[in-house]
Parts: sequence; structure tokens; C-alpha cells
Amino acid sequence: MTHDTRQDIDERAILISGLTSKTKDNKDSLLRELARLADTAGVEVIDTLTQNKDHIDSKWFLGKGKIDELKQMCEELQANVAIFNHELSGSQVRNLEQFLDVKIIDRTQLILDIFAGRAKTREGQLQVELAQLSYLLPRMHGQGKNLSRLGGGIGTRGPGESQLEVDRRHIRGRITELKRQLAEVSKHRMLHREKRRRGGAYQVSLVGYTNAGKSTLLKSLTGSDVFAEDKLFATLDPTSRQLLLPNGRTVILTDTVGFIQDLPHDVVAAFRSTLEEVTEASLLLHVVDASDPDFDNQIKVVNEVLEELNAHGKDTIVVFNKIDQVSDEQRQQLNLINNALCISALDEQDLLRLKLEIEQHLLNKSVVFRIPPEDGKSLALAHRMGEVLEQTIDEVDGSTTITIRLQEEDYAKHGYLLKAYEV
Ligand code: GTP
Repeated sequence: MTHDTRQDIDERAILISGLTSKTKDNKDSLLRELARLADTAGVEVIDTLTQNKDHIDSKWFLGKGKIDELKQMCEELQANVAIFNHELSGSQVRNLEQFLDVKIIDRTQLILDIFAGRAKTREGQLQVELAQLSYLLPRMHGQGKNLSRLGGGIGTRGPGESQLEVDRRHIRGRITELKRQLAEVSKHRMLHREKRRRGGAYQVSLVGYTNAGKSTLLKSLTGSDVFAEDKLFATLDPTSRQLLLPNGRTVILTDTVGFIQDLPHDVVAAFRSTLEEVTEASLLLHVVDASDPDFDNQIKVVNEVLEELNAHGKDTIVVFNKIDQVSDEQRQQLNLINNALCISALDEQDLLRLKLEIEQHLLNKSVVFRIPPEDGKSLALAHRMGEVLEQTIDEVDGSTTITIRLQEEDYAKHGYLLKAYEV
């Protein structure tokens, strides 16, 4: 999807990144990512400005010299937007706007604005609105007019004109209402998930940094028609498809929103219910864009978000994707990493290797049961739990001895009826 709804919006932006001694080595990747976010939001980037400073000015964010330089740049280049790669306070935004006379957008607002354009389902839209309002509320301090920032972001994807005139109390009320509605949607999602699980479906979740190739993998692994493109956050709403494994078993593969560094806490909180797909999964496929020079840092960011979701430490396959774009030497190095698989989502053989790897992870424990003939229910459950390796019937007492390869976590959760029969 291109941001066609925005093509008539003439946004000429200067990107600003404040670098500290810790982040200055990542200057290029930080600016590249901000430029991609801006591009995804449909903004034309005309120049960039960086500041090397550990201390952030509380009034302007930038130091005096830099802010004068920025003002001059805005005038000379006829920029009408300044995009900061940081979260700004409400007063910093107001001060900058007054001094520079251009629209000021911070990183969080840019991400939320992209999200607003991408949310398709009701749940996604509720989540984005909740994140936008949670972001706005602390920035409204004593200033009704600050409300207009939402409507005046890049494009006009705020929660709507009528929202812009209401006061903080109303926004709090709306937040409560959104949370209530989301809790309801989340309950449905939970019931749906529970039903899938009772049906014996294994949940596998694709996680990864934005643009790593998750949707492409969902599409190529399941043969489904899923939207993917070379833009950030192409997928906002979780999409689930059945994946048929070579051993004939079917798992449910879910694609979730891509992660990004400094993902605002409000956003993670608002997307918690869809991200629950990740916490509930039996297996995570952590997709990494191996061709991105910054992939190390991206892995770290994803792990941090997983930690925040209490999903860190789950059974995980690290999938180094886009391997068709890296050198042989780099590929060899990646191959040495434990629990990792190098693939191209565009290569059939690689996809087969990934499917086989998923099989290995899902059925990671062999258990032998001896089930009496009168307990047909437990025998049926044993069959549902995993793959039957061997089954014999005792001619004397009619009991069945059955060896099942199953998933340990799944067995612990749902196999309690069988425990008594474990040999
Ligand atoms: P978000 O929705 O932002 O989270 O992105 P995503 O992780 O779902 O990425 P997506 O599948 O949209 O892919 C991003 C871009 O990478 C697209 O242009 C894909 O065509 C491309 N891509 C994905 N996998 C591969 C691959 O193995 N090789 C190459 N060369 N390109 C790939």
C-alpha cells in the first residue's frame, strides 16, 4: 500500500536526530530508519540535521546554535515540517513550533500516524486511538490548544475533528471507553484462541523488527495472499493462517506488528491484546533481516520488547531472512549461530528447511503411555497431543501402549488426563 490518501499533502521535512556519546556510532542507521518512517508516512525528506550532545535542552531539545541553524535551513529549503527522532515534551513542541514556524512531529507521533493509516480492523483502530490519546493526554498540560496537534500531524489521521475540541476529562472518558471496548474484543480473541487450542492447533508466531520479512514468510510458507511491501509496519493487525507441515500436521502461523527501537510504551500497552498472540504461542519465529547492517541491534530491540511482553525465553527459532542479499562470508558466520536458520523467503528449499525445523521444535518430547481399554477418551487425547511413533495392544488386558512425540509445554498444560498413564 502506498499512502495514496496523502499524495496531495505537500510535506517537506527536515529530520533531526540528537546523538549522544552512546548513539553517535549509529548515526547512519538511526537517520536511515527515521527517513524510512517519514517515507512510509508519505513525507518528502529534504535534509537532515544532527546534534552531538549528551545533555538535552529542556526548553528546545536542541542547543541554541543548532536551533538557529535549523531555523535557517527551514527558511532556505522551504521546509514545513521538522521531524525529531525522539519523544518531545508538550512544551518543547510548543516552543519549537513558535520559534521555527513549522510543524513539529516527534518520533512517537510519526509512528502513531503511520499506525493510524495502517489499522484495518476495528481492534487495530481502537488500539491506535488508545495509543494516540494516551500519548496526547500528558502533553495537554494547561493547554487546550495542544489538542490541535493530533489533527495537525502528518496528514490528518487524528481521532477525528470532534475529538479535537473536547477537554482532558472527555479524553480520559474516551480512554476508559476504548479500554473497555478493547477488553471485549480481546475476550473474543481469547475465546477464539482457546477454541483453536482445544482443536489441537499449535500456535506459531512470527516476530521481528519491522520490514524483516514476516508477512512475506507468512505468505510463502502458507501459500496465502497476505499483504507485504517494502515499507515499515505494513502489517498492523495480526493475521493468522494455517500452515501445513511436511509431516501432515497443521499449525496456526500468526504475523504480528513489527517491532522498532524506542517503541513507545503507550503503543506496546495499547497493542497488548494483539501482542498476546505472541505470549500465547508455543513457538516464536524471530525473523531477522540479515541484509540490514544494523541487524544486531534489531535483534536486541526485539528481545527487549519480548521481555516487556513476558515472552522472552520462549522456544524460538531465529530466522535470518533475506540471505539472498548477503555475502557468502557473512552467511557462513550466521550459520554458526545456535538455534538459527539462514533462509530466503523467496527460496522453496529454504522454506522446506524452515518447516522441518518447526516440526522439530513442536514435537520435542517422547512419552510412553499405557492406557486401559475402557479409557477411550484418554487414548484419543494422546493421539491429539502429538505424533504416534509406536502403538501396541496388550492381548491379555487389552491396554494400549503408545509412544507419542509431543510438545512438552503443551503436554504440561493440556495433558493432565494422561499423566496417570505415563510409563
Ligand atoms: P512489517 O509489516 O513492517 O513488520 O514488515 P514485515 O516484517 O512483514 O516485512 P515484509 O514481509 O513486508 O517484507 C519487507 C520487504 O522485504 C518486502 O519488500 C519483501 O518483498 C522483502 N523481502 C522479504 N523477504 C525477503 C527475502 O528473503 N529476500 C529478499 N530479497 N527480499 C525479501
